[in-house]
Amino acid sequence: MSIRKPSSALVLRSLLVPFLCVLATQADAQSTWTAGWATRGMVVSDCGLASEAGVSILESGGNAADAAAATAFALAVTFPAAGNIGGGGFALVHKADGGDAALDFREVAPNAAHRDLYLDEQGKVVNGLSTDTHLAAGIPGSVDGLLRLHEDHGSGLVDRAQVLAPAIRLARDGFPLSFWAAYVLNAYRGKLETDEAARRIFLRGDGQLWQPGDVLKQPDLADALERISQQGRDGFYKGVTAELWVEEMERGNGIATLEDLAGYDSKYRDPVRGEFRGYEILSMSPPSSGGILVLQLLEIMDGFPLEEWEWNSSSYVHAFAEACRRVYADRAEHLGDPDHWEVPVPGLLDPEYLEARMADMSLERATPSTAVSSGTPTPREPDETTHFSVVDKEGNVVSCTTTLNARFGSGIVVDGTGILLNNEMDDFSAKPGVPNLYGLVGNEANAIAAGKRMLSSMSPTIVLHDGHPRLVLGSPGGSRIITSVAQVILNHLVFEMPIAQAVAVPRVHAQWLPDRVYYEPFGMALDTRKRLEELGHELAEMEEIGRVNAIEVQPNGFYAGPDVRGGGASAGY
Ligand code: DON
Repeated sequence: MSIRKPSSALVLRSLLVPFLCVLATQADAQSTWTAGWATRGMVVSDCGLASEAGVSILESGGNAADAAAATAFALAVTFPAAGNIGGGGFALVHKADGGDAALDFREVAPNAAHRDLYLDEQGKVVNGLSTDTHLAAGIPGSVDGLLRLHEDHGSGLVDRAQVLAPAIRLARDGFPLSFWAAYVLNAYRGKLETDEAARRIFLRGDGQLWQPGDVLKQPDLADALERISQQGRDGFYKGVTAELWVEEMERGNGIATLEDLAGYDSKYRDPVRGEFRGYEILSMSPPSSGGILVLQLLEIMDGFPLEEWEWNSSSYVHAFAEACRRVYADRAEHLGDPDHWEVPVPGLLDPEYLEARMADMSLERATPSTAVSSGTPTPREPDETTHFSVVDKEGNVVSCTTTLNARFGSGIVVDGTGILLNNEMDDFSAKPGVPNLYGLVGNEANAIAAGKRMLSSMSPTIVLHDGHPRLVLGSPGGSRIITSVAQVILNHLVFEMPIAQAVAVPRVHAQWLPDRVYYEPFGMALDTRKRLEELGHELAEMEEIGRVNAIEVQPNGFYAGPDVRGGGASAGY
């Protein structure tokens, strides 16, 4: 079997593998898998088994926050490339009673970190240090954040042990790999076999490639999850797991200490809010750049005759790319951890400011993104994050994105725990003007400092109408998260696509530097591309832009928008 990316049709077929196994092994399960519609509750994630774990919590009386925590812990097992307890993320909550919360469980830089951490004696960035080594890991936030989500926003009817039970079972008993899960493990074999502990877990014992339906068991991870189940945050940030984490650091010249782990604290932020065509958009605030940029893009695009231009016409893509250039330039200069840098949030979202930013745009020519190498490399390797969306029957919703940064993080497992080290430190600006994994550059605002959160693009978002949820969505994709989320909202609210279509249709992406417009295969007709080139845009095909998992809420039920670009699968009842 060669390592080949599965086509969407194969992905869809492969989703049946775990589905049939669930039916076979859990004859008593009450939930109904659904291709796209449910009335009482729904989870859409990157893995059917994890969606199912969330729905099982809804069925036993839990609410969307309980289900979100269960889904995330299950993803740590069934989607090790991105689902994680070794990384961090953001969760946006909208309560049926109208309350909102934005929970920031982003990783932080260890206390011994400093701005020149990745520079050699000549002041040059050392290749790979912020991505492939123990030094690449931020202090993980997922466990603290997910437990807080459950404790503060859960129903009170489902305890911690119940929330963790599906994940522990999946880790201990194993689960059948979907076609996509097998593909991802096989595709990253080279990375995973360089670390002994990762090799033991993520490569088949007989040296062969994984096949769909093969069972992956993770007993060390099951034990680590069990400690969280029994002791809460202390079962991760103190005791056995923390000690193993620090031992791993000592083995690999990392700098994280027991004090760093014990001191981790997730935080509440004020969600950013905007208005778009009568809908309220709620999204993630700094230390993510995501929410601000999504709102900026929507506000700017609202100034153009979008319906007249039509979806993905050359005028539409031109305007979108021009808007992207400007908002990503803002990102590089103004955005960082708000506890370390004053982010001018209202100013960045001011419609007059945005109008002024677009004033020099011409419909007849592309504006070149200033200076710096147009030869900036495109992302060196596919990367990984995971987004899931949850709704419950009361109308509570959770939009949650978590990440290890690159696929399988640094590829290093904390020996004895089954937990992958994130390589989130690469999201800092290692040096002004030097691009990270996603080609993003940054400045002082996102320089490395002890205890600081690295700037993110993750954009868990909720769209409300008259105070009621209409869309719950988000995406992985590094810098492409922002453009993916903005396009799905435009597809749905402007071009009136049902959510499944709004998610599936090809997307485009641009980001100031590199000065290039990317498009997915089948995304733009040849004459559209020619017109964009005439306007002065450099174009490049990109295999995949984002992987959005969304839910559309309508009076008659919940409609799923899982992304066929990966293993996206909905479960509902
Ligand atoms: O926080 C961020 O913006 C990145 N670490 C996210 C990485 C990501 O989305 C990779 N996914 N495909």
